[in-house]
Amino acid sequence: MEKRNNNNRLRVGILTGGGDCPGLNAVIYGALLRASEESSKQVEVVGIIKGWKVFNFPKSELTKELVDHYTQVLDIGELDDLHTKGGTMLYTSRTNPFKAVAKLKDPQEREQLTKKIGEDLASKFQDLNIDALIAVGGDDTCGVAAAMYKYGGAHIVACPKTIDNDLAGTDFTFGFFSGAQLASNTLDNLTTTAHSHQRIFVVEVMGRDAGWLTLYSGLSSGADIILLPEVPFDFEHDVVDVLKKRANAGYKFHIIACSEGAYPNPESLERDFTTISQKDIEALPKDSFGNPILSKLNMASKIEKELQKREDIKQYFNERHAHYEIRSVVLGHTMRSGTPNVYDRVLGLRYGYHAMDYVIQGQFGKMTSLQGTEIEPVDIVEGSKKRLIPLDSDLLKIKEAMISVKHKSKEKLFK
Ligand code: F6P
Repeated sequence: MEKRNNNNRLRVGILTGGGDCPGLNAVIYGALLRASEESSKQVEVVGIIKGWKVFNFPKSELTKELVDHYTQVLDIGELDDLHTKGGTMLYTSRTNPFKAVAKLKDPQEREQLTKKIGEDLASKFQDLNIDALIAVGGDDTCGVAAAMYKYGGAHIVACPKTIDNDLAGTDFTFGFFSGAQLASNTLDNLTTTAHSHQRIFVVEVMGRDAGWLTLYSGLSSGADIILLPEVPFDFEHDVVDVLKKRANAGYKFHIIACSEGAYPNPESLERDFTTISQKDIEALPKDSFGNPILSKLNMASKIEKELQKREDIKQYFNERHAHYEIRSVVLGHTMRSGTPNVYDRVLGLRYGYHAMDYVIQGQFGKMTSLQGTEIEPVDIVEGSKKRLIPLDSDLLKIKEAMISVKHKSKEKLFK
C-alpha cells in the first residue's frame, strides 16, 4: 500500500452504509467519473467495504492485512456502466460507531463520548491511508459522518441515500423513486387479484418514520385507504367507516396501503385493537442505531386480524351483497431490490460527481442535496436531520380528496 503525503495524489475513500437502495452504485460511478477527469492531481478512489465496519476496530487492530481486507482501490476502467446496477458493489452494514452513546442518559456524558469517538474515527483516516471520505447513506450514516466532521474535523462529505426520502436537507434522496415505483407497481398489480376474489388487501409499505413511500405509491396507484406514520390513524374512522362507505357505494374490492411505521392513535389503540398494545410497540427490538424494527410489529397483519374479527362489518357487507375477505401483504425488501430507475441513476450520478467535486475543492462537512433541479452543498449536520411529511402538505389534501370522492360520487346510486 502506497503511503499518502504526496501533494499530487488524493486518496478518497467511499463507503455505503445503512439499508441498501437502488442508485448506490450510481453514486460510486459518479464519484469515479469526477475523479477521472481531474487534472490538477491524481485522485485515487478507495472503496471501503461494509459501511462503517472497519472504523469500529481499535487502532491497534488496524493492520495492513485488515485494512487491505476492508478496502479496494476502484478502477473505473473495470466498472463500465456501474450506475445501471442495483445494490452496492461495496456492500453495506448498519454498523454504528456511536452505539455506546445511545446507552448514556446524561447529556454531558453523551457529548463527551460523542466527541471522543468522533476524534478517534477521524484519526483512523491515517490508518486507512485515505485523505478524505465520501459517506453515502441515510440519516444514520450521515449522522455518523456529521459527528466525525463536527468533533474530529474529518475531511468528509455525505450523499443522501434512502428509499424513505426522510432527510431534511434535500428535496429528494436517491433510491426513493425506484422504491416508490416498485411499491406502486405491486399495488397496481394487486388490484387484479383483489378484484377477482373481491377481497380487501392490506399492503405494508416500507418507511420507518416517514410515509413518503406509502403516500407516493398510494396516490400513484389509487389506493383506497392510505395510512401514514405522520398521522396516527383512527381504526373506526379511517378504516372501518371508509370500507363501509365503499361497500355501500358498490365497490367490491379495496386496497389499503399501510406504512410500516403507521400506528393507531392512543384512543383507537385502546378501543379497537386486541392484537397489539402500546407495550408491544415499546418492546420492539431495536437496530444498532436504536431504531425500533417496525417490520416486527407487522401492522398490516394486525389490521387484517382486527378486520377479520369484525362480524358487524361482515354483516354490513353481506347486506349489500359484498364479499368480506381480507389478506395482508408485506412488500418489505422487494421495494429496495433491483436496478435503479432513470431518475435514481441520474440523481445518483449527480450526487456522486458533486460529492467528489466538493472533496477536490476541499469543501468538507457538506452533504450533496437536490434543491429544485440543482445539486447544492448543504451543511451535513442540518442536512442529515429527519424530514417527515408536513401536515399541511398538498399531498395529504389530495389523498383525502381521492379517498372520499370515490364513495361520495357513487353514494346516490344506492340510496
Ligand atoms: O431505512 C430504510 C428502510 O428500508 C426502512 O424503510 C425500513 O424500516 C428499514 O430500512 C429496514 O431495514 P433492514 O433492511 O435492516 O431490515
